[in-house]
Amino acid sequence: MNATQEQLKLKLEQALVAAFGADYTGVDPILVTASNPKFGDFQANVALSLSKKLGMQPRAIASAIVEKLDVSDICEPPEIAGPGFINLKLQTSYLEAQLNAIKTDPRLGVPKTKNPQTEIVDFSSPNIAKEMHVGHLRSTIIGDCIARILEFRGHDVLRLNHVGDWGTQFGMLITYLREVYPDALTTANALDIGDLVTFYRQAKQRFDADETFQETARQEVVRLQAGAEDTLHAWKLLCEQSRKEFQIIYDLLNVKLIERGESFYNSFLPAVVEDLEKAGLVEENQGAKCVFLEGFTNREGEPLPLIVQKSDGGYNYATTDLAALRYRIQEDQAKRIIYVTDAGQANHFAQFFQVAKKADWIPDDVEIVHVPFGLVLGEDGKKFKTRSGDTVRLRDLLDEAISRARIDLETRLKKEDRQETEEFIKKVAEVVGISAVKYADLSQNRTSNYVFSYDKMLDLKGNTAPYMLYAYARTQGISREGNINFENLGIDAKVILKEDTEFTLAKHLLQLDEVISEVEQDLLPNRLGDYLYNLSDKFNKFYDKCQVLKSEEPIRTSRLMLCDLTARTLEKGLDLLGIKVLERM
Ligand code: ARG
Repeated sequence: MNATQEQLKLKLEQALVAAFGADYTGVDPILVTASNPKFGDFQANVALSLSKKLGMQPRAIASAIVEKLDVSDICEPPEIAGPGFINLKLQTSYLEAQLNAIKTDPRLGVPKTKNPQTEIVDFSSPNIAKEMHVGHLRSTIIGDCIARILEFRGHDVLRLNHVGDWGTQFGMLITYLREVYPDALTTANALDIGDLVTFYRQAKQRFDADETFQETARQEVVRLQAGAEDTLHAWKLLCEQSRKEFQIIYDLLNVKLIERGESFYNSFLPAVVEDLEKAGLVEENQGAKCVFLEGFTNREGEPLPLIVQKSDGGYNYATTDLAALRYRIQEDQAKRIIYVTDAGQANHFAQFFQVAKKADWIPDDVEIVHVPFGLVLGEDGKKFKTRSGDTVRLRDLLDEAISRARIDLETRLKKEDRQETEEFIKKVAEVVGISAVKYADLSQNRTSNYVFSYDKMLDLKGNTAPYMLYAYARTQGISREGNINFENLGIDAKVILKEDTEFTLAKHLLQLDEVISEVEQDLLPNRLGDYLYNLSDKFNKFYDKCQVLKSEEPIRTSRLMLCDLTARTLEKGLDLLGIKVLERM
């Protein structure tokens, strides 16, 4: 709900009390956006729901409310329609005033939150020495967008990369490292393993084929856990290698993260188990320490345990998450913790959330949310793979998007007989390629699977990043053509609304606030995507219908202001999606 709706709601509430007495304090006036713009902008449906209680016809109730309703500073005189809807239409002067008010507001009418708090977004979180796959790409893009929106609202956001940097696989990797790079551990030279994924695969092959190797690997795990210096050194080398590769992706995507991997919580793991034991929640099952869960059963219908400590003394993914949760609440003072992972991990989150709640570790004012997302599918509707059936490397995927964007651009330049510098072509291709990938992801309801299609995401038409970037570039084209600096339109420049397309655009521009607070609540970035796509569409319709540079003053300045407001809203909104704009493309 935006500020206008809130005001109208309040006035309706007051009118209800004035009409029917104090008993009706707090009754929801059921204010909604009008189903058909012909009837206005909003409608209040409360009269229909009170009919029984008041023993009156809804239309009579509606008139009684309208009689006491004073919205003359916002709306045209209210009208009663159908069985008893109260229709409200915003006054032109009100809309104009609202637009004039955000003309110089860098926040475009979006207030900062009244309740700033520490919010943690746990996202991206790939695993050391393993491939960062499309699932991590989704987590990175969605998590970054959520973090940007919360930051914009004025929250203190911790962007945590919960990297998988601990576990028994390191025994195998370190043993193999010692075998193939014996010098790496003794010299100060930086290690360059090259392709870590191949390294991982080879290590695994060695491990599977040789029992002595397996034994050494097991000992390395013990040494790692005990903190043996040379083993820790090898572990660090492996982490650094991966980190470098992850960083290439983060740089390409322009995403910032603070790495706080699983290993960070090692020293807190024993206390997690001890405290669960003290709370009487732990049962031993074949040597493993378990917490039995409600609502989770195995195939035989028996209650499912969450293992918090294995029989060999080792800890699990869930134990680390429990430790991380406590740390984030106690040390970071987080009030909301948001975990962005694929929907396949939903059970993991539901399970350790349940254990943490049972142990009473989550204060009432702390909210923990799993933000799940669906799969990325190939155009054949199956899991996204390369032609040869391998998993797609993210770098290749992003490079491919960029090079396809480049081909599209070059074709367009040829057709339009335009000459551009290599620098321009490179920049546009990179921005368009990366934006296309990001937006294809963010424009979907994150909970559903989506089909990855370069052709679709790079299309200049449709709900795509290029379409919106193009709308933005159009606004900048107007300023270039007219030699106008939008910032210098003057303080007395005013928006004046005349044409239908101007009204439609103006009303949409005023809804950013509402959309942002919706996303802040339900963490669905596609709502912002839809908003920006519609904004681009409404702007294009306005621009097709209305002369801008060739119109007479004061309409010319007013329309230039609509262009500027559109440009700034697109720029801000796309920035919140992690997408950069282009002055020309
Ligand atoms: N490393 C995990 C994976 O690749 C994701 C971690 C998500 N965050 C968490 N706190 N469990 O699947």
